[in-house]
Amino acid sequence: PRKIIIDTDPGQDDAVAVLLALASPEEIDVLGITAVAGNVPLPLTQKNARIICELAGKTDTKVFSGCDAPLSRKLVTAEHVHGKTGLDGPTLPDPKMPLQDQHAVDFIIDTLRAEEAGTVTLCPLGPLTNIATAFNKAPDIVEKVQEIVLMGGAYFEVGNITPAAEFNIYVDPEAAEVVFKSGVPIVVMPLDVTHKALVTKPRNNAFRAIGSKVGLATAEMTDFFERFDKEKYGSAGAPLHDPCVTAYLIKPDLFSGRHINVEIETQSDLTLGMTVADWWRVTDRPANALFIGDIDADGFFSLLTERLARL
Ligand code: BDR
Ligand code: CA
Repeated sequence: PRKIIIDTDPGQDDAVAVLLALASPEEIDVLGITAVAGNVPLPLTQKNARIICELAGKTDTKVFSGCDAPLSRKLVTAEHVHGKTGLDGPTLPDPKMPLQDQHAVDFIIDTLRAEEAGTVTLCPLGPLTNIATAFNKAPDIVEKVQEIVLMGGAYFEVGNITPAAEFNIYVDPEAAEVVFKSGVPIVVMPLDVTHKALVTKPRNNAFRAIGSKVGLATAEMTDFFERFDKEKYGSAGAPLHDPCVTAYLIKPDLFSGRHINVEIETQSDLTLGMTVADWWRVTDRPANALFIGDIDADGFFSLLTERLARL
């Protein structure tokens, strides 16, 4: 299995991404889960990460708490999408499993130093603060990363937190810039693809029909999440952003995209956090990311339902 660190700000869709990874030990070995401030503040995201591990019955998963604010900006949160707790929808018990003592950034650094070069993949599902802080603090680890598969940014779909920017990149654009300039191979799941991974009513029913605690919680989480997006976008269901990352690790064939150059806007107030993606290759700037544009959505949801049923 592929060794990964999930860096996350749960978030209902983060939660489903984590469940999918924990349900797939043949393909994915979760070395640790590092929490970052994003959808809600850090005390809630680290707690939510543990709630999800317990829901999955994987209480031996190591969960670390990381940065509580972006590199140089004030934290922007998204309770308007995820609710006050970040995991609104299901009623889940407070976690009993421990939070690790070590800081998430130090865990990322130590793990990359300890493991063989090119064998650890980073999976950021929130603002890129923890990853950028680790790269800044320990530049020697950058070349040891196998790949970064992240959810963030947009091209045709443009933005969801501002007209120009997607939430994860907008919250910490300086951190995103560090990551996109790092030279590590990057796979990006932008809104262009996640807005095609919609939890329609039949797909939500399929989660519920699993008949387990995990199936029910997933149905309730995606139901809650959907209310926001139905009102806001009039779409057929909630976009399941972050699970695209973990699904890609299991079944990359579900996705297709282009190797292109992606730069991050860090200066303009108007377009702060925009991923300036050279989709049509109109510049000669070198490609630094595989920017995903399409998904086999039915295949994605059958994989997800099948895997969640294993927990
Ligand atoms: C991203 O922002 C968060 O609200 C979601 O969890 C996802 O990671 C989508 O823009
Ligand atoms: Ca997220």
